[in-house]
Amino acid sequence: MPKPRIAPQHLRPHPFRQLLGYARPFSRLFAGVIVLVIIYNLTQVIQPYLVKVAIDRYLLVNTPALAPLIQIGAAYLAMTLVGLLANLYQTRVIASAGQQIVRQIRIDLFSHIESLSMDYFETHDTGRLITNVASDTTRISQFFTQFLLSVIRDGVTIILVMGAMLFLNWKLGLLSALVIPLIVVISAIFRPRLHKIYDITRSRQSRLIGFIAENLSGMRITQIFHQEAKQLEALTQLNLPYQMANVNEFRWDVFFNRTLDLLGNLAVAFMAWAGGLAVFHHAIKIGVLYAFISYIQQFFEPINSLTQNWNTLQSSMISFERVSQVLTTPSTLEDPVAPVPLEQSGDIHRIRGQIDFDRVSFGYDPEHLILQNITMHVAPGQFIGIAGETGAGKSTLISLLARFYDVSSGAIRIDGIDIRTLRQEDLHRLVGVVQQDVTIYSGTIADNVRLFHNDVGRQQIVWACKITGADSFIRQFREGYDTWLTPHGSNLSAGQRQLLAFARIILLNPKILVLDEATANLDALTEATVQKGLMEVARERTTVVIAHRLSTLRHADRIYLLDHGRIVEQGTHQELLALNGFYYAMLQKSVIMPGAGPERRDAVN
Ligand SMILES: Nc1ncnc2c1ncn2[C@@H]1O[C@H](COP(=O)(O)OP(=O)(O)O)[C@@H](O)[C@H]1O
Ligand SMILES: [Mg+2]
Repeated sequence: MPKPRIAPQHLRPHPFRQLLGYARPFSRLFAGVIVLVIIYNLTQVIQPYLVKVAIDRYLLVNTPALAPLIQIGAAYLAMTLVGLLANLYQTRVIASAGQQIVRQIRIDLFSHIESLSMDYFETHDTGRLITNVASDTTRISQFFTQFLLSVIRDGVTIILVMGAMLFLNWKLGLLSALVIPLIVVISAIFRPRLHKIYDITRSRQSRLIGFIAENLSGMRITQIFHQEAKQLEALTQLNLPYQMANVNEFRWDVFFNRTLDLLGNLAVAFMAWAGGLAVFHHAIKIGVLYAFISYIQQFFEPINSLTQNWNTLQSSMISFERVSQVLTTPSTLEDPVAPVPLEQSGDIHRIRGQIDFDRVSFGYDPEHLILQNITMHVAPGQFIGIAGETGAGKSTLISLLARFYDVSSGAIRIDGIDIRTLRQEDLHRLVGVVQQDVTIYSGTIADNVRLFHNDVGRQQIVWACKITGADSFIRQFREGYDTWLTPHGSNLSAGQRQLLAFARIILLNPKILVLDEATANLDALTEATVQKGLMEVARERTTVVIAHRLSTLRHADRIYLLDHGRIVEQGTHQELLALNGFYYAMLQKSVIMPGAGPERRDAVN
C-alpha cells in the first residue's frame, strides 16, 4: 500500500503550496502548457493588428492593393489555425496532468482512510467521506484544469494585450488600464460573499449525500419498520435548503458576472467615444481604433475568466482543506516506530498463540469504562469460551485483541509481546476474527473465500470449504465456486455466509482464532456441521469462542463469564455448573427458551 505523501500537521505547508506539491512531478508538462499558451495568445493578439494594418495601409488609401490584402488574409487564417491547435493541445495536456494528479490524491486519500482506526468511522459519517473521495477530489482537479490554466492563459493574455495597446498608442493604452482597478474593486466586494455562499451549498450537499448513503445501506431496516414515508420527509427537509442554497449561489454568480459584463460594455463604449474623437482629430488612424476595440474586448475576457476562476480556486481550496483534514487525521492506532520484527514468515510461525490480558480496562469513551480490570491467561492451543449477557462487553474484549481499539490501561500480550509493539499487519495475520455479520464483496464465491490473496489456488479454496462444510451448498449452485455474489450477499443465507467466513479463516490460518457469536445465525443442523469442522481447525491453534448458546462451550478448556465488563466467574463447564452462580442461571434460562437467545437476529439478517 503506498504511504500517503503527507507530512505531519506542524510541518505542513499552506494547502495551496501542498496542492502545488502534487503538481511538481508534472512540472515539464506545465512548462509545455505555458509555451502553448504563449503561442496561442500571440496568435490572438496578432490578429487585430493584422486587420489594423490592412485597414490603415491598404484599404483607406487612394489606391487599395489587392495582393497584400490577400497575404494578410492568409496570415490571419494561419494565425487562427495555429491558435486553434495550440488551444487544443494546451487543454488536452492540462486535463491529462490534472487527472493524474487527482488520481494520486484519491489514492492517498483512500489508503489513508483505510488506515484510520475504527473509532474514526464511528464518529464521522460515511456520506462525508464519500463526498471527500468522490466529489472533493474532482473539484481539486479543477484547480489544475481550470484555475491554473486560467492563471497562465489569462495572465499571459492580459500582459500581451496590454503590451499591444501601449505599443499602438500609449495614451489610449493607459486610459484602458484604468478599468483594472474597477474590476478589482468589484470582485473584492463580491468575493467574500461568494465564498460564503459556496461554502453553505457544499456543506448542505454533503449532508444530503450523507443522508442518502446512510439510508441506502440501512434500507432493509427502513423497510422492515415501514419508515419509508418518514425518511422521505427527512430527505425533503434536507433537500429544500440545498435547493435554496443552489439557487442563491446561482443568483449571486449571475449578478457578479453581469456586473462585470456591464463594465466591459461601458469600456467599449468609452473606447468608441474617446478613440472616435481621436480619429476625428487625426490623432490616430481608424485601424488603430478598430484594434483597440478588439483589444479591450479581448482584455475583458481574461479578467472576467480570472475572477470567475477565483471561485474555482476557492472551491478547490475548500475541497482540498477538507481532504487534507482527513489526510492528516492521525491513525490513532499508529504502528510502533520500531516494531517487533515478524516479517519473515518463520517468525510468525514461531508464535505459539499464548494470550495474556493483564489488568485491561477500556472504554469507548474514557469517562465510561466498558471493561474493567480484565485478567486472562490463555495457554497456546487452548479452547476458551467467553459467556455473558448481551452488552456485557464480550465483543469489545475481542476488538481489543484484534487492536481495533487500544486498551485504556493494562496490556494485551501474545507470546509475551505487547500487541502495541507489533505491526498491525502482523497482528492481523496472527489473530483471525469471525463475527456474526459477514462482509461479502462483489465477486465470485472463490474470490470471497480467497479474499485479496490472489496466490491462493482453487484447490486450497475447495479444501477449506470442505472442512467447514461450505462445499456441499456451493456445489448446489449451477456455477459452483464461480457463482457471483453481491455485497449484501442476498443470494446466500446468513448461515451460508458464515460458512464462507470460516473457510476464509482456514485459509488465513491464524495462530489465534476468535469467533464472536459466529454460529448464532446457523440452524442446529448447520451448526453441527460447522462445529465439527471447527474442532478440526481449533486443534492447531488457540481458539476463543464467544457463544450465546452455552452448549457450544461445553468442551472449552476454560470459560470466562463476563458481566458488566468484569470477569465474574471462570472455570470449565462442570466447575461453573458446580458454582451454581451466574453461569448456572444463564444455562437454566437458555434451557427454558431454547434458541431464543436475545442476540438471535435471524429476522433482520
Ligand atoms: N463502538 C462502540 N461505541 C460505544 N459504545 C459501544 C460500542 N460498541 C459497544 N459499545 C457498548 O459497550 C458495551 C459492551 O458491548 P459489546 O462488547 O458489544 O457487548 P457484547 O458483545 O457482550 O454483547 C455495551 O454497553 C455497548 O453499548
Ligand atoms: Mg457482541
